[in-house]
Amino acid sequence: MEKTSSLYCGKCVSYTHLGMGVFVTDQFPERILVSGMVPGDEGEVEISYKRAGNCFGKIKKLSVLSKDRVTPLCPVHTSCGGCLFQNVSYERQLAFKKDLVASQLGRVEGLSFEVSDPVASEPCLGVRNKVQVPFGRGRWGELIYGFYKELSHDIVPYPDCVNADPRANEILHKVKDAAVMAKISSYDEKSGRGELRHAVVRASRAYEEAMVTIVTKDKDFEGKDEFFKALAASLGPDDHLIHNVNGDKTNVILGAVEETIKGSPYLRDRILNREFLVSSRSFYQTNPYVTEKLYQSILDHIELTGEETVLDAYGGIGTIGLIVADKAKKVISVENVPEATEDAKKNAELNHVTNFEAVCSDVGDYLEVLAKNGGHIDVAVLDPARRGCGQRTMDQILSLAPSQIVYVSCSPMSLAKDLAVIKDHYFIRLVQPFDMFPYTPHVETLVVLNRK
Ligand SMILES: C[S@@+](CC[C@H](N)C(=O)[O-])C[C@H]1O[C@@H](n2cnc3c(N)ncnc32)[C@H](O)[C@@H]1O
Repeated sequence: MEKTSSLYCGKCVSYTHLGMGVFVTDQFPERILVSGMVPGDEGEVEISYKRAGNCFGKIKKLSVLSKDRVTPLCPVHTSCGGCLFQNVSYERQLAFKKDLVASQLGRVEGLSFEVSDPVASEPCLGVRNKVQVPFGRGRWGELIYGFYKELSHDIVPYPDCVNADPRANEILHKVKDAAVMAKISSYDEKSGRGELRHAVVRASRAYEEAMVTIVTKDKDFEGKDEFFKALAASLGPDDHLIHNVNGDKTNVILGAVEETIKGSPYLRDRILNREFLVSSRSFYQTNPYVTEKLYQSILDHIELTGEETVLDAYGGIGTIGLIVADKAKKVISVENVPEATEDAKKNAELNHVTNFEAVCSDVGDYLEVLAKNGGHIDVAVLDPARRGCGQRTMDQILSLAPSQIVYVSCSPMSLAKDLAVIKDHYFIRLVQPFDMFPYTPHVETLVVLNRK
């Protein structure tokens, strides 16, 4: 990283795909990327560093404010790195997301598509059902928790997060109070000393319950009983409390050992017509209001007569597969996290769905065996992690030739790469962005494709 420092006058003209303002000036030949700058802003920017061929800068003075600017609700939004778009109107956020999907898919030569207006998050504040925070020590040695500052492991103390479910904020206060009362030390990443590492809180939308996972370095530590007793007593009657032990020097939050202190190891929730149990390690969409709309849209667009075999690839706890199962002959959900696969099996039982099979496997490996054995799928639902499915899996999907592909993506960049592999054999019926992550530059996109 090359450090440099100079001041330039100019204007922010657009956003990058990561939501950074693109600042241009007559006084410097390159564009300068400025976090928190809004297209339409004019003023002075200082170049702070160069990395990977890009110049990054910070705002020194604003002389003209963009018409899209709003007053941020969160005092730490610029330092916490979580909600880059706190200073932009909600309409502008949605416009950014539509443009992002259009521009990324537009990079695929010969891809024909139209992007619908994004489905908004209603409400758009207080919606995040999962919050995970590290613990540490503040300037005066006091116990703090918060978010990591952008590109660092410095903790920005957490004022109640406006994006989080208010119950999660409330519970984090209780965790801190119990830790202070029981004099629990916070974990220090550099020295590897101390105990309290993270708290992860997940709240159910349908039920008055939340799951709190406390991550400590050791299984046993001074003040443990007092801490958990006080915390458990402060939680609601249906809340769950889990103790997770992670003694490794790692960025991974959860360790391998887990014990249920209060309640059960499962959070209960309901989406559309189904009940779900979610354990602490399983993926679960973070915005329940938009998730319901996304899954309803899948139900509306998936073409099933009751005779089809559906592949629910990257199935998690079985959500999509179980929601569409009534319309199919059979659903096979493939997921590589064992705990999530077990949750999916439990969820099938809970909902009395008998035409649903949950398989714990890498999707690519599963499809390879399926193709070798002459297996068949009629409809493929693909809902991969940010990196997308990749060439190998998309090639396998092509060779299995389902009549319809329902692709749910949280990264327009990897979505575009995957669609490029199948574009000659499938046509796009729908590109529908969903604002799953309000106040951030991230977007969820549903793409429905039918075989040509
Ligand atoms: C975006 S989540 C979608 C989960 C689910 N469809 C839902 O709506 O909740 C992606 C899931 O794929 C799983 N996963 C990631 N890579 C995988 C792979 N190569 N093979 C199988 N599952 C994978 C993750 O553990 C996660 O549960």
